[in-house]
Amino acid sequence: MNLRINSFEQYQHDYRKSISNPALFWDEIASEFQWKKKWTNTLNWNFEEPKIEWFKDGKLNITENLLDRHLEKNGNKIAFHWEANNPGKKSKSITYQELYQEVCKLSNGLKSLGVQKGDRICIYMPMIIESVVAILACARIGAVHSIIFAGFSSNALADRINDAQAKIILTSDGLNRADKKVDLKEMVDSALESCSSVEHVIVFDCIHSQPNMLKDRDIDYHELIKNQSAHCEAEEMDAEDMLFILYTSGSTGKPKGVVHTCAGYMVYVAYSFQNVFQYEENDIFWCTADIGWITGHSYTVYGPLLSGATSVLFEGVPTYPDAGRFWQIIDKFKVTQFYTAPTAIRSLMTFDERLIEKQDLSSLKLIGSVGEPINEEAWNWFFQKIGKSNCPLIDTWWQTETGGVMLSGLGGLSPMKPTYAGLPLPGINPTLLDAEGNEITSPNTEGYLCIKTPWPSMIRTTFGDHERCKLTYFSHFKGYYFTGDGAKRDENGMYRIIGRVDDVINVSGHRFGTAEIEDAINKNKYATESAVVGYPHAIKGQGIYAYVVVNTEMEDESKIIRSIIESVNQHIGKIAKPDKIQIVKGLPKTRSGKIMRRILRKIAEGESTNFGDTSTLLDPSLLDDIIEGAK
Ligand code: WT7
Repeated sequence: MNLRINSFEQYQHDYRKSISNPALFWDEIASEFQWKKKWTNTLNWNFEEPKIEWFKDGKLNITENLLDRHLEKNGNKIAFHWEANNPGKKSKSITYQELYQEVCKLSNGLKSLGVQKGDRICIYMPMIIESVVAILACARIGAVHSIIFAGFSSNALADRINDAQAKIILTSDGLNRADKKVDLKEMVDSALESCSSVEHVIVFDCIHSQPNMLKDRDIDYHELIKNQSAHCEAEEMDAEDMLFILYTSGSTGKPKGVVHTCAGYMVYVAYSFQNVFQYEENDIFWCTADIGWITGHSYTVYGPLLSGATSVLFEGVPTYPDAGRFWQIIDKFKVTQFYTAPTAIRSLMTFDERLIEKQDLSSLKLIGSVGEPINEEAWNWFFQKIGKSNCPLIDTWWQTETGGVMLSGLGGLSPMKPTYAGLPLPGINPTLLDAEGNEITSPNTEGYLCIKTPWPSMIRTTFGDHERCKLTYFSHFKGYYFTGDGAKRDENGMYRIIGRVDDVINVSGHRFGTAEIEDAINKNKYATESAVVGYPHAIKGQGIYAYVVVNTEMEDESKIIRSIIESVNQHIGKIAKPDKIQIVKGLPKTRSGKIMRRILRKIAEGESTNFGDTSTLLDPSLLDDIIEGAK
């Protein structure tokens, strides 16, 4: 299956075709895949309900497309090179044939527990091959996977399990992270105290910690698959059946479950993978994203496997045992495409360059960035020091909700401009709107980034709450999908992402709603009220700044602050730890009781004057205290 565009002229031609006749365009691409039954209607849609159906009545199973289909010619090709956290531990490789067998065994194991098509299974696991096996085993039998990043706390885990009403949890005893071990099983045990939908927990032995196993509920992974057949018929799925749920944060309420469906996701993720990374048969691809995020779903797992690619799967972190680890791994496996996040680049930039000079890195053909805006300094460093100024650098903009890359260069075919994600992929129809919802036509003008027409891998609904999907994405501007990002476009049509325009902050490429962090803080016994804003952070992109009103004066402040951090830890996870906590007497509010976040953002940025219009402020005297305290 070769879906690749080979020149900029072809891109322009295909782009025009994809916009003028999307059905015809995607029909041809979808025909490259293996279907059990062909679709009858390529696209039905309206953005009002919203209702989006791609490849109606088509029947397929995504795992036949990413496993079975490769076996005859490429069964012995390596699907993953797995690199352990500890560099002293031997790396492991798994072929497509072996992966197929492992997936089938686990699929049969899940069936033996009574799992049926449509059941939800939560996966809370490290970056190991068995996690990929777990994902694909769900897909093979038509169970809906919901992966929860292993950095989330037991409370966050419980929220997601309950929202999805999951029947099975796939986890491991623990995980290795730099010189530490994290006890995942203990997290699951405590989460399950408040989750009644769960029937079984399947535990993979990763760190040999011999956890407590609850009789009848907990099952050892190896015991489960030991006597299972290495063949499992793939469940026939409808094109629009759910493939997975992935929880993500928004500006209000609890994280919501973004729903992706089988066929559209498959088609777009394979298409975008091959084009954005200009994939060629013998490449060694490495996306550093954890499987717990959408980047891991689409470009660590599904995209490469659908294309029959060989990729690297890395268990560890970029700075262990030293900050040369990424560069060593690139050399070890002769990686050709390397895809990572700006926060990693900004952090690695600060270390001794001899760590890079020690390595060869000449295998690299392309480097890529994802997850947050990449500043010019980081762009240049990545391009020069890692790409040696002769690899195209692609800056890929997309979201959990979009399923695949939306704005990006296609390898070296497209023009490159530092800090610009670039042009839309074929099939993607973006626009910029002003506050009144009018399309902005003049270049270099900032606006709200929206998408005008559907693409195959777009969000279908938010699990269990379709109204919320409508309100969040399709109600701000009637007839458009609203991304939540601000952007501008230059004279050549290239887009530059400015950042979120809602109450979502992006910390090291991780997305949090400020309301979600405030909720966690407000559960603390000392906190009466809080307001969280993002502020520019040199490494993380954005840092978390929390203003907290407390109910006591006796306690010493550092104790209160430690306690608040612990609450965030408990309710979300260490990844959401506030960088700054300021205890304040009160929050600046309007007379109608609305917190003036605009002012709090300015103070967090270090501003002490120029707050704009403050006439609606209920108690202006509070500001001086807050400014003073921020210093
Ligand atoms: C938000 C989506 C799918 C990527 C992983 C994050 C920001 C993402 C870029 C980029 C500037 C970017 C946006 C977007 N974002 N990529 N290349 N340049 N900003 O997925 O957690 O769903 O977050 O990340 O603000 O809305 P996510």
